[in-house]
Amino acid sequence: MKISIVGTGYVGLVSGTCFADVGITVTCVDIDEKKIENLKKGVIPIYEPGLETMVHSNIEKGRLFFSTSLKDSLEQADVIFIAVGTPPDEDGSADLKYVLEVARQIGKHINHYMVIVTKSTVPIGTAKKVKAAITDEIEKRGIEVDFDVASNPEFLKEGNAIQDFLKPDRIVVGTESEKAQKMMNRLYKPFLLNGHPIIFMDIPSAEMTKYAANSMLATKISFMNDMANLCEIVGADITSVRKGIGSDARIGNKFIYAGAGYGGSCFPKDVKAVIKTADLNGYKLRLLEAVEEVNNHQKHVLVSKIKEQFGTNLNNMIFALWGLSFKPKTDDMREAPALVVIEELIKLGAKVKAYDPVAMEEAKRILGDKIEYGADPYDVLIDADALIVITEWSEFRIPNFKVIEKLLKNKVIFDGRNIYEPAEVLENGFSYYSIGRAA
Ligand code: UGA
Repeated sequence: MKISIVGTGYVGLVSGTCFADVGITVTCVDIDEKKIENLKKGVIPIYEPGLETMVHSNIEKGRLFFSTSLKDSLEQADVIFIAVGTPPDEDGSADLKYVLEVARQIGKHINHYMVIVTKSTVPIGTAKKVKAAITDEIEKRGIEVDFDVASNPEFLKEGNAIQDFLKPDRIVVGTESEKAQKMMNRLYKPFLLNGHPIIFMDIPSAEMTKYAANSMLATKISFMNDMANLCEIVGADITSVRKGIGSDARIGNKFIYAGAGYGGSCFPKDVKAVIKTADLNGYKLRLLEAVEEVNNHQKHVLVSKIKEQFGTNLNNMIFALWGLSFKPKTDDMREAPALVVIEELIKLGAKVKAYDPVAMEEAKRILGDKIEYGADPYDVLIDADALIVITEWSEFRIPNFKVIEKLLKNKVIFDGRNIYEPAEVLENGFSYYSIGRAA
């Protein structure tokens, strides 16, 4: 089987590499020439554990190709995935210009039957628009070519994307024809060995499934963050409450960790987009509007605690920040809570010295010299007034409290991810602020 994946962003590159790894011939296409040149040499543009090695080995085995020519890649393809970006428009809806441009290009060059699959997260109704754009171009050429469209949303988590792709919980595919269904079934067969299902449905339902999944996950987090804030007020501990409710199988113990708010390129964007979709259809998604509001509030909770400890004038104070990425195992800082905390601290007159195990380059690109950067976690503590933990990287989990105590001016820790045991931190003489726990 031969496939092409258009768009070598996060989703496209991970998907293409994993398909190649099970023996499918894959061409990854992108209009960015520099990116394609680099990829041909095995230089990958993102940080994702295990990806680089996998790209190298599949290039060597002659199964993974990179190209800037969509036209060439169509020649022998059975399936084309559209995995280009859908950045939020100014009003929060997903911008489809890249997806539809790819569709038009396919329409201009398609010469045999293939299945055209949207893999980017797209609003309900997009596959229909893709089909119309392709049909339109084919008609302009005055020829007849049979094709099908399908929707195949991805559920990859950054930092764990390869495992998520190779051993998926489920694969969701929206199709309109048996022929397309058969093709997709064959393509995904190697990934279904763990007994998990491929779920076929109609196209709008597949498109909706992606938004519903991310919205449900975001809702769980905002719910827990709201509960955490109430726990603090009434003297309860959210970590105990989490264990208490998570052991009920109907609730489940995953994705119910309170923290400094959810970030990343997916939840904030998708929650906004689904609210917008509802809005455009005359329906108000009250619950998701609240989910978003709670999350925006949550990103400021750490700064409220800092003000509680030090007041609102932070002139000449220095804060050490552990973690910059929106979560561990990625260098992605999109919508990261760290950005909100940094901005607020600077506004209040403070300086920030930060360390992150992998996101330092990305931080320098985004923040430049607005903050200082440290060589390791302890380096940023020198002359700092307090420590703020904002991303739960493993290497922050068992720190040497004696060294922290020696280096910090004030013995204060703000823990935005509840990674320490309050008793241990307090025993070491620190003031300790965390989320939803009366420390
Ligand atoms: C998310 C979904 O989990 C994937 O299934 C989906 O494919 C992806 O979006 C997407 O749409 O492409 P991702 O954004 O990589 O994946 O990150 P998550 O691991 O889901 O974490 C999102 C945010 O929630 C992070 O900021 C994380 O710190 C926060 N979070 C997560 C919590 O605050 N508490 C939790 O219990 C879990």
